[in-house]
Amino acid sequence: MVADIGTGVPMGAIPSCFDLDRLILALSDAFDLVGVDKTGHSRRVGLVAARIAEELGWENGEVRSLLRAALLHDCGVSTTGEHHDLMGALRWADSVEHAARGAGYLAAVPELAPLAPLVAEHHTAWTNLCHRGVAGDVALAANLICLADRTDALLQGGATAGRELVAALRGHGGFFAPQALAALDRLARCEAFWFALDEPVLSEALARLMAAGEPVLLDTKAVVRLAAVVGGIIDRKSPYTECHSGGVAKVSVLLGKALGLGEATLRGLEIAGYLHDIGKLRIPDELLNRQGALDAAERLRMARHAFDTRVILTHAFGPGGVADWASFHHECLSGNGYPFHLREGDLCLEARIVAVADVFQALAQYRPYRAPLTTDEIAALMDGMVFAGKLDAQVVAACKERMGECWNMATGG
Ligand SMILES: [Fe+2]
Ligand SMILES: [Fe+2]
Ligand SMILES: [Fe+2]
Repeated sequence: MVADIGTGVPMGAIPSCFDLDRLILALSDAFDLVGVDKTGHSRRVGLVAARIAEELGWENGEVRSLLRAALLHDCGVSTTGEHHDLMGALRWADSVEHAARGAGYLAAVPELAPLAPLVAEHHTAWTNLCHRGVAGDVALAANLICLADRTDALLQGGATAGRELVAALRGHGGFFAPQALAALDRLARCEAFWFALDEPVLSEALARLMAAGEPVLLDTKAVVRLAAVVGGIIDRKSPYTECHSGGVAKVSVLLGKALGLGEATLRGLEIAGYLHDIGKLRIPDELLNRQGALDAAERLRMARHAFDTRVILTHAFGPGGVADWASFHHECLSGNGYPFHLREGDLCLEARIVAVADVFQALAQYRPYRAPLTTDEIAALMDGMVFAGKLDAQVVAACKERMGECWNMATGG
């Protein structure tokens, strides 16, 4: 039995529209997982940036838009190595790359594209922004994210909260807008400003800010587009998983169609495929890319990714449905899978489909220790997994009838 993570949405329902801010908050938490156990960075950056903007007298709508960009500002960081460099140095030489990459991801999603310029410039010095003639509103919003980001980096590095911290930031002459520093300095006098960066007050404050306007609703097609972009971010985590999430999404849809599932379910399967490994963002690079054997603690850390996927997707989509289909991809009919150890009766057809697609894509993909397997080799291995009670016989049969198509879908061929 799986413990539910309550969000008030009926179990198993696939909504026909999705709240953009709810998705952004869940994705922000997912991107923060790259910090492994140092979580909450984007939420704190979001609140600090929003508070400075309020202090500067910005309108509600402008504050909300800044908050969205701040929550997603590190979406261009997939590896723990990059995350470490970013948090460790106030001005890291390669920080521009992840900002440009993140902006590129956001630009590919129409509903998030207006946030892209802010993310693109969130590590650019204020004097450079002015010198290059970046539009005033974009420049100041990007610089507020930068200031909030560096504030949290100092806090996480052990700096004491207060005006001394602002003075340290002021020491980086020209990097931050003078009016932004002055506003942060006014806020910094108030102890409560700093105390509010701790949970649960932090999340309550963000929820209030997000609720201060009309919700933006996305249809299923838009969420599939967003999920495809996030799948690319997940796959960038390791050179060995390039195209993995996209391949799993496409094979899942192909198998779902072959097994007679309806359009809404197929779109849910596609989203589940793109996002099934989102919990992998929390696995340290060296562990994910390790070729040798893992010890017990490392195996536990790896197994956790499917649990983290379930937490993130339950926050994004509600319990059941997509969250389950995605996060049960390492479960086995025999009960010997992980991390929930579900049995046959707990695993719906959609979850069994994602599990087969996951195995198929991994076997069809190059690994440093082996070439991609042939369709015959994959069929033989999957037969063995059916016999061992790992995979569903009906889903594997549907896959074997369409080996060529599955191969093309899995490998992008
Ligand atoms: Fe950051
Ligand atoms: Fe996985
Ligand atoms: Fe996977």
